[in-house]
Parts: sequence; structure tokens; C-alpha cells
Amino acid sequence: MAQDADVFAGGVAVITGGGAGIGAGLARRAGALGMTVVVADLNAAAAQATVDAIARAGGTAEAIAIDVAIPAELDRLADHVFSAYGDVRLLINNAGIETVGFTWEVPAARWEATLNTNLHGVIHGVRAFVPRMIATGKAAWIGNLSSVGGFSIMPAQTAYIVTKHAVQSFSECLYLEMALKAPQIHVSAIIPGMVKTDIFNPEAGAGEPPNAAAHRRRMFDMMREHGMDLDLGCQVMLEQMAANTFWVHSQPEMSQQMIAGRIAFLQGQTAPELTAAARQIVEG
Ligand SMILES: NC(=O)c1ccc[n+]([C@@H]2O[C@H](COP(=O)([O-])OP(=O)(O)OC[C@H]3O[C@@H](n4cnc5c(N)ncnc54)[C@H](O)[C@@H]3O)[C@@H](O)[C@H]2O)c1
Repeated sequence: MAQDADVFAGGVAVITGGGAGIGAGLARRAGALGMTVVVADLNAAAAQATVDAIARAGGTAEAIAIDVAIPAELDRLADHVFSAYGDVRLLINNAGIETVGFTWEVPAARWEATLNTNLHGVIHGVRAFVPRMIATGKAAWIGNLSSVGGFSIMPAQTAYIVTKHAVQSFSECLYLEMALKAPQIHVSAIIPGMVKTDIFNPEAGAGEPPNAAAHRRRMFDMMREHGMDLDLGCQVMLEQMAANTFWVHSQPEMSQQMIAGRIAFLQGQTAPELTAAARQIVEG
């Protein structure tokens, strides 16, 4: 049996944003490994579709409609999960949105949605679940969706980038807190590079400034062309979590390149560099 099945089979997994993309891929994989999967998503129909796919493959899952941008919703999710299942072995704080547009042109509501979903959704997922995860005394795994964007910078994706830098440092601090208080709880920063999903779908850009559409389309096309297969990416990321690694990558070489660039930038203390590639994505 694969090591991830040894670790996860028989446990309960809670995956936010499990209705599509990486969350759905991780949910299907967790179901295939023998976990009972709670698929939580803003889009109830999408969450149910993931549950149906898990059931068709012989697994067990439940769909929950939730908005992770609202802290009380994560309390409601945790209350439900602990009363229905007793404990949680795998918590993936995955729900996230991309936001495209210059800092001063992104409307306040879209800034709020981005920060509340991508950052506060992760923070309050941890706040709502961890006390009861600690109280069971059992081994558990928490994965927070960082990104290669947690180590890089990109004009006109600022709202997204700041959340990913924050989720990365949040996860590092959380790891230390668990080392102090609950070493049986393993924390991972999940760092996808480019995995084929609909995060840059032109239809997901409601509320962005009109001039963001072409940038979004270029990223969407790039992801379609060069992105990693979703199911393979989710499989390798869960394998790394099962091995208790803090750093969990879809494409380690892409992460390495971004991290090396960040290190060089910090050591050199140069001004941020506008690369030709970034200019091309923003301006065409
Ligand atoms: N796809 C990539 O290559 C990539 C790269 C780096 C990081 N990530 C991160 O992975 C995570 C998933 O991204 P994806 O590419 O699968 O995106 P996606 O758009 O394909 O799926 C996101 C899912 O989250 C749900 N969601 C959005 N807002 C929500 C909310 N407020 N409450 C509950 N659910 C909500 C959506 O309904 C959707 O089902 C995000 O945190 C993203 O930043 C993705």
C-alpha cells in the first residue's frame, strides 16, 4: 500500500474550495485513499459534483455549502464536522480566488473578497478546527494553500500575491506553534506551481477592472498550455503531506526557481525588477 494510504485511510478529510480545481482533485484523491471527505465550497452544486465523483469511485463524502470569507462559517463547519465525525485527520485550507488589476483600480469589494477568502479563510480555518484537533490528541495534518506566488511578485496581481506571501509566513509560524504545543499535528505549506484549473477563467473576473480581462485571458491560456495535470498534481502533493514534509510542491523545480529568485532579491537588496515576461502578461 502507498504511504499516503497508510497514513490517511479511514480518517476524515475536510477540504475547503473542494468544488473545483485543486480542492476537488485533493478531495477525489483523499476519497480514493479511503478517507471520508467533507467537501466545503461556496458553490454548493460544485461541491455536490465532487461528492458524486467520489461516490462513483466507491468512496464516501459529504458536501457542505460555505463561504470561507466569513469566520463564523468556519466555526459552523467545524461544529458540524466534529459532531458528525468526531475528529479530523486532514484539513486542507484551499479555497482561493485570483484577482487581476492594478492596486488602485481593483474595487474595495474585490480587495476584501481576496483578502477574506485567501488569507482570512485560512486563518479562521485553523482557528476553528485546531483546538478540537489538539483536544483529540491524535495525529493530524493541516495543509494551507500557499503558492509559488508566495515567493514572487507580479504587477496587477498584487491582491493575490500579498495573500500568498501572508499564507506562507502564517504556515511557517503555525508550524512552530504546533512544534511547541501539539507536535502530533503536521503543518504543510502547499505550493502549487501551475496546475491546470479554472482559477484564471475569464468568467471568474467579476468585479475586476475592465482592463484586467486581457491579462486574465493570457494567464488562463498559459495555464491551459503549460499547467500540470490536476490529478497528478494532487496525488504528488498528498504523498508529500503524508511524508510529513512542511514544503509540499506540485512542480518542485518551479518552486525552486521562484525561491532562488527571492533569495537573490533579498540578499542583493536591489529594487524590484520588472521583467519582460511580466510586462508581456500585463500589457500584451
Ligand atoms: N491552480 C494553480 O496552479 C495554483 C497555483 C498556486 C496556488 N493555487 C491555490 O490553490 C487554491 C485552489 O486554486 P484552484 O486553482 O484550484 O482554483 P479554482 O478556481 O479552480 O477552484 C477554487 C474553488 O474554491 C471555491 N471558492 C472560492 N471562493 C470561496 C469561498 N469564499 N468559500 C468557499 N469556497 C470558495 C470555488 O467555488 C472553487 O470551487 C487557491 O488557494 C489558489 O490560490 C493554485
